[in-house]
Amino acid sequence: MYKAIIFDVYGTIFDMESLKNDMDQFNEVEAKSISQLWRKTQLEHMFLRQVMQRYIPFDELTKESLRYVLDVHEIQYNREDVNQLFDAFLDLDYFKEIPKVLSELNAKNLEIGVLSNANDNMLMPLVDNSEINKYIDTVISVNEIKQYKPSPASYALILKYYQMTREDILFVSSNAWDVSGAANFGFDTVWVNRSKSYFDYNGQSPTMTVNNLNEMVKWLEMNKR
Ligand code: LAC
Repeated sequence: MYKAIIFDVYGTIFDMESLKNDMDQFNEVEAKSISQLWRKTQLEHMFLRQVMQRYIPFDELTKESLRYVLDVHEIQYNREDVNQLFDAFLDLDYFKEIPKVLSELNAKNLEIGVLSNANDNMLMPLVDNSEINKYIDTVISVNEIKQYKPSPASYALILKYYQMTREDILFVSSNAWDVSGAANFGFDTVWVNRSKSYFDYNGQSPTMTVNNLNEMVKWLEMNKR
């Protein structure tokens, strides 16, 4: 029986497709292209900086990646434009099943936390401005140790906050790289495969794969996990 369920944030609780909704200045095709390359670049910078041991907080990294993406799209910008586009990251929509799923997990007396590569400047507006903060008891940012997921030290932060053993924790993410990192650290994992994609195997497989989080709750009930 798990004691705590820890969620990733971007793509797992919040829908990255909603990033383009706050880009009125671009047409739909442009907004889609910018938002997709932005997320891809953000992850690449994160992995590279982790390997190079050149950590910068996630808000800075997110703006850094945005500047590249605007250059690629040959869009002129100033600091104000970057700040204004960046705000889209503070106003993402959560997936529709989230409040129901979190309240069901809460009713099972499970602790609910999030572990994110984002720093508080980015996390707090999202978690505070939503229906879901009442269910989340711990918001953990890797900024505390200045190491991005999937480094083992980032997942170890969970054990610092929860005083539990690895077996007590279930880590949930729709990012395959994050599932790999958490499984590598020794947590059971759920991969939320919302886009019916293929798991990008990196030496670790998820304990369970679901299409959405409602399915995860059913799996927990069936397995009494
Ligand atoms: C997170 C991102 C990077 O850690 O998915 O929330």
